[in-house]
Amino acid sequence: MQMAVVAVLGAQWGDEGKGHIVDILAARATTVVRYGGGNNAGHTVVNRHGTFKLHMIPAGIFEPATLNIVGNGTVIDPKDFIAELDGLMQRGIDVSNVRISDRAHVVMPYHVLQDRLDEQLRGDAKIGTTGRGIGPAYADKMSRIGIRMADLTNPNMLRQRLSAVLSIKNRLFTTYYASEPFDLEALYSEYLAYGQRLAAHITDVYPAIQRAISGHEAVLLEGAQGILLDIDHGTYPFVTSSLPGIAGACQGAGIAPNAIDHVMGVFKAYATRVGSGPFPSEVDGVTADALRQMGKPWAEVGTTTGRLRRVGWFDAVAARYAVNLNGIDLLTITKLDVLDELAEIAICVGYRLHGAIIDHPPTQPEDYALVEPIYETMPGWLTPTPDARSWQDLPAAAQAYVQRLAELCEAKVAIISVGPGHEQIIEMIPVL
Ligand code: GDP
Ligand code: IMO
Ligand code: MG
Repeated sequence: MQMAVVAVLGAQWGDEGKGHIVDILAARATTVVRYGGGNNAGHTVVNRHGTFKLHMIPAGIFEPATLNIVGNGTVIDPKDFIAELDGLMQRGIDVSNVRISDRAHVVMPYHVLQDRLDEQLRGDAKIGTTGRGIGPAYADKMSRIGIRMADLTNPNMLRQRLSAVLSIKNRLFTTYYASEPFDLEALYSEYLAYGQRLAAHITDVYPAIQRAISGHEAVLLEGAQGILLDIDHGTYPFVTSSLPGIAGACQGAGIAPNAIDHVMGVFKAYATRVGSGPFPSEVDGVTADALRQMGKPWAEVGTTTGRLRRVGWFDAVAARYAVNLNGIDLLTITKLDVLDELAEIAICVGYRLHGAIIDHPPTQPEDYALVEPIYETMPGWLTPTPDARSWQDLPAAAQAYVQRLAELCEAKVAIISVGPGHEQIIEMIPVL
């Protein structure tokens, strides 16, 4: 076992299989830190305990000896968090190893309402959010009117903060949104009760994280969403409101950049996206049907919202952008098996915009929507790969495809995943 700090980032538009990879690597880590996002995330894990859809709880939860920290960079809906804990406990999973940063922000019911009303107001320009209050919760954090998990465990503080926030929010709801005000006493008692229920988990996580780092332990930083949904570097405004990349990992876990040994980018062997926004390599028709795998447990249907995911070919221009912006040195390629039945596979290797070749995503979504993908094609392997456990087990055409992705991304392949199961990986480089 190597002791290292490894950040596991979603490197496309989310749903790359981060949960699956963290579940596997967590057995070798003392600590897993989920550093950003909220219950907009849906991480499916398939292991000896069954199939789990995690939203907030790190995928290291199945390892009783691993500390699972929900970092300061996340936004937490306590009601859903408690439901997730209860669901795990009912299935016999020990959750006593879950810690919640007391600096993480709380997603309040007014955030959820605001998210949904804002989407309605956007009309045709809607983002297609998950409706979980994520954008408004992060906005309030930045506006310094957020409620933090620490506040839920302190009655006086909670009442004081909530009262101040509601004086602003209720003005907004009753005038701008023409809706009902929120009742201070009702919210106060409900959220105080959540705080009491979660009290054993809420703590200052700084000492635990620093102890793991200074002790040179194996630490995983678990990403949520994907780099192309980043508030700064994604396809703004069709993005989420957090920092899914490496900067978000440092900030949202409280870890210095030079404490991180490897930045692992998790990519699907093709591409998917949920919600609105540009997606140059998107496909439809029979190719989309083949990639979407309807009816299979891993079909491209959103874990959190049940929406059909848009599907397309691997976009190497977007991938290299993600690699460069985040210092990705290791690649994980998931869902290679999904391509098993395709006779020909395309890769988007360039963008053409207004007749000129560009080598990175344009700033404006209106321009990005006009980008014409330049494709190169490779032969498929037409051979099942779910049982492959070593590089040699892969058909030559599959090897060539993976090699081409690595070459285009200019990074090394550490893991190839060929199925959702805990054993279904080919480990090229042992990272922990
Ligand atoms: P995450 O949000 O990045 O954790 O990814 P999701 O869990 O939302 O979506 C990934 C889906 O693909 C889940 O249903 C996983 O069980 C499944 N999955 C992960 N890796 C593989 C793989 O290599 N092959 C197949 N067929 N399914 C996979
Ligand atoms: P995981 O962690 C895929 C997308 C939404 C929408 C946009 C903004 O499972 O990879 P939000 O509710 O965050 O304000 O929505 O971001 N989105 C995701 N897409 N996977 C996710 O998480 C996502 N989290 C948010 O669909 O387009
Ligand atoms: Mg997901």
